[in-house]
Amino acid sequence: MPWYKDFFEGWYLSLYLPQRRFKPTYIKKETVFIKRVLNLPKGAKILDLCCGHGRHLLPLAKMGYQMTGFDLSKKALNVLTKRIKKEKVKIRIIRGDMRKIPFKNEFDAVINMFTAFGYLETDYEDFKVLKAVVRALKPGRKFLIDIINRDRLLANFQPKSREKIGKLTLLQERVYNAKTHRNTVKFQILDEKGRWHKAKHVVRIYSLKEMRENLNKAGLKIIKVYGDTIGNQKFSKKSRRLVILAQKN
Ligand SMILES: C[S@@+](CC[C@H](N)C(=O)[O-])C[C@H]1O[C@@H](n2cnc3c(N)ncnc32)[C@H](O)[C@@H]1O
Repeated sequence: MPWYKDFFEGWYLSLYLPQRRFKPTYIKKETVFIKRVLNLPKGAKILDLCCGHGRHLLPLAKMGYQMTGFDLSKKALNVLTKRIKKEKVKIRIIRGDMRKIPFKNEFDAVINMFTAFGYLETDYEDFKVLKAVVRALKPGRKFLIDIINRDRLLANFQPKSREKIGKLTLLQERVYNAKTHRNTVKFQILDEKGRWHKAKHVVRIYSLKEMRENLNKAGLKIIKVYGDTIGNQKFSKKSRRLVILAQKN
């Protein structure tokens, strides 16, 4: 089974829900940033590609956008469905693989947040995602993608770490392959009953130059680059994130 099915049906939400990026105050800042950079009128149609349990979907829907959430994980979409019912917002949800977005010339924007790219088995499979994004967008409309900044990751590379996340203890071992630019992280998780669990993720980390080439080849051009998802940092070797706003030709 590919790691991304295992991981997102398994430990992902338990490990990340307690973290800073998942707190309402941080999500609010991110949503305000997304709204500002997309600069779309109310009623515009936005696809949240790899939406997870809906961190941005729900607040963007409440701001008046017509939201579609797309994700592969049953677990994430189950949580999302419950949240949508509880909050009584109107959102379309579709389960599927990011290479196969079932839309053509449909959206005013596509967003892909929190390193939800670089998961697939080869660079060519990742490229298919960009082609699918282009197909789903209306001409001239925008794609916002938020990924890890490779320069910063490598400058601060930590082969091992240990941390407490709620009641869990998390050990991580990281190996970066400088030829393939794939970062493999092996997780060992100690639960509150003293049982150990394993998980892993493998993410292809793209540089800005590589992203520019791939986006261009897919039919998008970069219009702006940011260094975080809350609008505080310019992109540089030291910025936390590589956040790209691109436009369909
Ligand atoms: C790191 S999470 C980000 C979730 C969300 N964008 C956020 O900011 O909270 C990545 C998401 O990508 C989804 N995903 C992984 N592989 C996928 C695939 N091949 N097709 C569609 N979604 C996928 C996972 O299920 C997960 O919800």
